[in-house]
Amino acid sequence: MEYRTLGSSGLQVSPICLGTMTFGTPVAEPEAIRLVHESIDLGINFIDTANSYEGYDRVVGSSGGVAEKILGNALHDRRDRVVLATKVCSPLGPGPQDRGLSAAHITRELDRSLENLRTDYLDLYIIHWPDRLTPLETMLEAMDRAVRQGKVRCFGSSNHTAAQLCEMLWIADVRRLMKVVASQIPYSMLTRHFHNDLEFCAAHDISVTPYQSLQGGLLTGKYKRGAAPPAGSRAAEKPEWVATTDDALHDRLEALGELAKEAGVPVVQYVLAWTLDQPAMTSLVYGTKRIEQVRDAIAALEVKIPEAHHERIDELFPRPWRQADPIRG
Ligand SMILES: NC(=O)c1ccc[n+]([C@@H]2O[C@H](COP(=O)([O-])OP(=O)(O)OC[C@H]3O[C@@H](n4cnc5c(N)ncnc54)[C@H](OP(=O)(O)O)[C@@H]3O)[C@@H](O)[C@H]2O)c1
Repeated sequence: MEYRTLGSSGLQVSPICLGTMTFGTPVAEPEAIRLVHESIDLGINFIDTANSYEGYDRVVGSSGGVAEKILGNALHDRRDRVVLATKVCSPLGPGPQDRGLSAAHITRELDRSLENLRTDYLDLYIIHWPDRLTPLETMLEAMDRAVRQGKVRCFGSSNHTAAQLCEMLWIADVRRLMKVVASQIPYSMLTRHFHNDLEFCAAHDISVTPYQSLQGGLLTGKYKRGAAPPAGSRAAEKPEWVATTDDALHDRLEALGELAKEAGVPVVQYVLAWTLDQPAMTSLVYGTKRIEQVRDAIAALEVKIPEAHHERIDELFPRPWRQADPIRG
């Protein structure tokens, strides 16, 4: 496994990051622990969770902590072998302090995450969502304090635009606070609305760690036109977590299948390799239920997308519209 540097942190991470959103249900604790151990044995050293994750049982405002506790049990005797990330911001209860990025919530949730994860430090602490009620400066001060206390090594953002990252960098610079090192955004062939932010991240040493690059499994080639979803798949078990398909989408997915066939690789590997080829991409946050799927993801690291395919992929899955720069063209 070739490791990559996470932003300006100096931390070395595998290009595949193990996502844990399915831990609890449908991936029960013993299977989840096995999956973590086997993934580490295969060379994966980057693991992503969130204080709110509790598998398919999650509803907005439920108390979370399930995936973190499972991970804590999986990692207690091998903590130093992984770069461990968790997140804060999502609502965890009905109270006004049960969500967001205030110093009160971050401080409380950081201690709870450390306890759940059975560790005394996080490698990467991620702000899960923007919080319009808390100024970025307040959040940055709370993160900076956590780093100085030794509870957090570095911090990242999730679901923030380049403009918000730019403001974070600017405040951190002026106030001499910790800089954001990584950005976790949704990014796949079907979800490219953050595409124009990637160059900004590359220019400012912010690693992009995209999530849902398989669009919940839709970009694996396993969902066929007119056929019921395969047994045990997400669309069969939790349909609301997979976008609905129609004929137009099936046309595009079938065309994608043809491209992968031309390249001589399975669709999953083709899609993951293409995603990692985009600017600033450092490590894909990969959802999985089985170690065979992890092997597929690792195999994708050897795949090279033929040069001529990039334009054809852009035609099938267009980038967002971009206004021409009047000075630079
Ligand atoms: N920051 C955020 O706001 C945010 C939001 C969502 C997710 N995330 C993170 O991103 C991770 C990934 O999200 P995700 O799981 O929704 O998206 P995903 O990676 O696009 O989809 C993963 C799903 O695709 C299927 N799959 C994976 N590999 C496969 C293979 N080789 N062959 C066939 N099917 C395969 C599996 O589902 P089945 O086998 O069940 O079909 C798997 O659970 C999460 O675990 C979480 O850590 C972050």
